[in-house]
Amino acid sequence: MIRIGVLISGSGSNLQSIIEAVNAGSIVGEIVQVISNDEAAYGLTRAAGYGISTKVVKHGDYSDRHGFDQELVRVLKESQVDLVVLAGFMRVLGADFLAAFPDRVINIHPALLPSFPGTHGQDQAFVYGVKLAGCTVHFVDEKVDHGPIIIQAVVPVLSDDSRDRLAARILRCEHKIFPHALALYCAGKLQIEDRKVKISGVDESVLENQFLISCPDLV
Ligand code: GRF
Repeated sequence: MIRIGVLISGSGSNLQSIIEAVNAGSIVGEIVQVISNDEAAYGLTRAAGYGISTKVVKHGDYSDRHGFDQELVRVLKESQVDLVVLAGFMRVLGADFLAAFPDRVINIHPALLPSFPGTHGQDQAFVYGVKLAGCTVHFVDEKVDHGPIIIQAVVPVLSDDSRDRLAARILRCEHKIFPHALALYCAGKLQIEDRKVKISGVDESVLENQFLISCPDLV
């Protein structure tokens, strides 16, 4: 059983979707620790409500990123975590942290990487005027929002959208693809080959139907 540690910084709605997928048996894993860098994160309340161990590790308590990362690693190793999940975690993790969990840190980003990396992906996509926004689940490497992509989903931008309406639609999509990606990982179905993530045992036509928008006949 994969032991999962989840890092959060805020509301924890992605954490909630992951907890529900674990409890439904879709993710063959166990969330053994939830850590927030912000003591006010509502995600801590969500985790505690399910009896999941929680801890606050404040980045401001450490003089540098290395000290903060080292404490996170210590707490996660203490809980014998196999997979680290970043669910709205707003801090950049350094090389030492990633070396402690090689190819075992997965993040969700609210844009179609490599477009619109960083902390305001939804907003940048909206302002840019894209017709198709979306979200990405990826392995974390030493560059921000750069690691091998596991799953992406496309979210159409509607003519009367606002920043908030689009962000909310993307978030609802995140709540679907993040648990799905983690279920694939925990089932041992992901293989990284160079920058590509191969998903074994999945009917490509299912993938094509599920995750690619078929181009409608426009004329
Ligand atoms: C999500 O949109 C995620 O993509 C981004 O921050 C948000 C976190 O939301 N990194 P929540 O804390 O999971 O509700």
